[in-house]
Amino acid sequence: MEIKRKWSVILGMAIFFGAGTIAINACVHAPYVLPVAQRTFSPGVCFERDILPIFISKCGNGECHSSPRGASGYTLDNYKDIISKGIVPGNPAASKIWESVAMNTLNVQHMPINRPGLTMAELNMLRAWIAAGAVDSGDCTNNCDSTNFTYSGAILPMIQVNCLGCHSNASATGGSLADYTSIKNAAVTGRLIGDISHTPGYNAMPLGGYRLSDCQVAQVTKWVAAGALQN
Ligand code: HEC
Repeated sequence: MEIKRKWSVILGMAIFFGAGTIAINACVHAPYVLPVAQRTFSPGVCFERDILPIFISKCGNGECHSSPRGASGYTLDNYKDIISKGIVPGNPAASKIWESVAMNTLNVQHMPINRPGLTMAELNMLRAWIAAGAVDSGDCTNNCDSTNFTYSGAILPMIQVNCLGCHSNASATGGSLADYTSIKNAAVTGRLIGDISHTPGYNAMPLGGYRLSDCQVAQVTKWVAAGALQN
């Protein structure tokens, strides 16, 4: 039984690939995958805080690569699906997802299609994360300070990471959050706080399921209460 099955598999492969292709296949190496035991956290990178928001904001967009649509078979709004396809742990160069976003730096039209590409900082973080083994979570120590912070040091970077993928200009559904004036507009009308604190009756933001940390929500709340200054 065992032997019979083995032979039928070999025969099947021979018919499928043809003798010539088998010869070529023998020279093609599977991409190097970092062994599970060597996978580690990339210094300072936390999947939940740094990587997932990039995917949700720039690839999910509430439509393209988010559930249930998952364009081209890529659902990129949760760890399990992100890692299941297109990421080769330990090997950014062999990772299709990396290739498709990094190509934007060469001005080749690729991913995200018709949306702002990943920033250099985001690309560096993504590559470091994949190279270290693409593990879940990581160094998530909370470096958020809700007492001493500024608009330019905390609020703006938070918006850039979590919101700009979908709110990059005035024609975006839900409007722009790309400059101080439009962020302040959303702030003074109460929508910014209502949305990010997932208050019933508002649109829970970022669209796609996760919520900013309590500290980030506290920062925005205090910033608005203090007059939403451009400090
Ligand atoms: C994945 C895409 C996506 C992301 C990421 C996202 N938004 Fe939105 N946002 C939308 C869409 C779509 C709408 C329109 C919702 C509607 O009108 O039903 C919207 C609407 C809004 C609105 C205006 C509508 C309203 O009255 O609520 C605000 C303000 C807003 N988003 C803030 C944010 C903030 C702040 C972030 C980041 C912390 C964020 N969004 C991240 C897709 C996104």
